[in-house]
Amino acid sequence: MSVLLTNIGELVTNDPAHGGSGPAGGGTMPGGRGTVADGIGVVPDAAVVIEDGRVAWTGPAASAPAADDVVDLEGRCVLPGFVDSHSHTVFAGDRAAEFAARMTGEPYTGGGIATTVAATRAASEDELRARGRALVHEMLAQGTTTVEIKSGYGQDVATEARTLRIARELTPETTYLGAHTVPTEYAADRAGYVDLVTGPMLAACAPHARWVDVFCEPAAPTAFDEDEARAVLHAGLRAGLGARVHGNQLSAGPGVRLAVEVGAASVDHCTHLTDVDVAALADSWSGGLASGSFGPGGAPSADVGPGNGRSADVGPGSGRSVDPGYVQFVDVRPGSGRSAEPGYVQFADVGPGSGRPADVGQGAGHGTVATLLPAIEFSTRSPYPDARRLLAAGVPVALATDCNPGSGYSSSMPFVVALAVREMRMSPAEALWSATAGGALALRRDDVGHLGVGARADLTVLDAPSHTYLAYRPGVPLIHQVWQNGTRAV
Ligand code: NIG
Ligand code: FE
Repeated sequence: MSVLLTNIGELVTNDPAHGGSGPAGGGTMPGGRGTVADGIGVVPDAAVVIEDGRVAWTGPAASAPAADDVVDLEGRCVLPGFVDSHSHTVFAGDRAAEFAARMTGEPYTGGGIATTVAATRAASEDELRARGRALVHEMLAQGTTTVEIKSGYGQDVATEARTLRIARELTPETTYLGAHTVPTEYAADRAGYVDLVTGPMLAACAPHARWVDVFCEPAAPTAFDEDEARAVLHAGLRAGLGARVHGNQLSAGPGVRLAVEVGAASVDHCTHLTDVDVAALADSWSGGLASGSFGPGGAPSADVGPGNGRSADVGPGSGRSVDPGYVQFVDVRPGSGRSAEPGYVQFADVGPGSGRPADVGQGAGHGTVATLLPAIEFSTRSPYPDARRLLAAGVPVALATDCNPGSGYSSSMPFVVALAVREMRMSPAEALWSATAGGALALRRDDVGHLGVGARADLTVLDAPSHTYLAYRPGVPLIHQVWQNGTRAV
């Protein structure tokens, strides 16, 4: 079954075949991918053919091949679905009063996290599931087709594990954040809490997680210092998880350097950076993307697809072998005989007994992405991160919502893109790349964030003629359709 989406006014692919896949603005992706000024692979008057959940063809509408079904998009813009690589969307309660107090002068310290921990521990599994599901659908309706979800509002073994089990029903991109803050019952025994997080809690959570994260922020009394954070990350890596870090949110602390040191996929926030931090991030990419980490020859669209041993079809029983350095997925498409939450691809169990892909740890051949979360600066009235400084240094930048009840409760990638353009002086093309391909890089995914042939057919259709409208018309509901895994979801 194939579908032709045609009469697309502007198609953004991030595909090198169409001059894309660089962080825009004249930058060059590490590994030599993308040198074009805009870097997002725009095709005017375009069409896309989708087959078996994947992108089968892109190009000028006038030369599109025939397909079983045809959808006329009447001149609208089509983008890769947004990749929101940072969210905390399984929790209970709200902190609207804390937000109101901030707007009249209270600073954000992270102290309110304890309020959400208490509410989350008290909530039933069904309540947590319903909230998580509702937020993921809210995201989907705003064009987000891949989302990462963290734990961190349980801070005891049972609630952290429950959070991650629920998150895993919603997305394969689950992150163990037991080390979000030190819960009140451990306030006088921080070392005891680190032992719990690196011991029994990790054992209970690792089967449901792909990543480990830590809030490394010496300026926040309940968050973790450098040594504590290092212990947490090393324990997670030993358990087969990939590393990510909440760093440099409230101060120019050690988070960024620690993230680079352990080979983290991403360090998130990056609000306060020193020259040493920026240089460390840039240096982490100095070897370029390892061959194979984003497709042979550094082309993300190259030969990802059925029959090539990558992505969709290397699950147990496929008889295919795992190509080191690639993220592997089980094929859960209709007819595969496997089940999945509708619209989400679940991971194959490719690590020994892990239920996780094999390549998220150290030595995967990637540097550390700087993930910026401007909706948090908006909601905490903080200075925005200096995106231009990172881009000038050649650091790949991702944009994500960080949707959470405390520091910022927006689930909207269009809002984040608009903030990045208006407040952080990213060009509309740079912001779009960072919200799609950048997010995919931060999750070490090669199948999403672009619309090269073989990519997962995750597309967002704007009720607008170009991607610039995301920032040009902020706050306006521009999402016309969303396609996920080749199926219309919105
Ligand atoms: O990413 N900084 C730490 N964690 C979250 C905030 C969590 C909260 O305030 O509830 C963040 O901003
Ligand atoms: Fe966060």
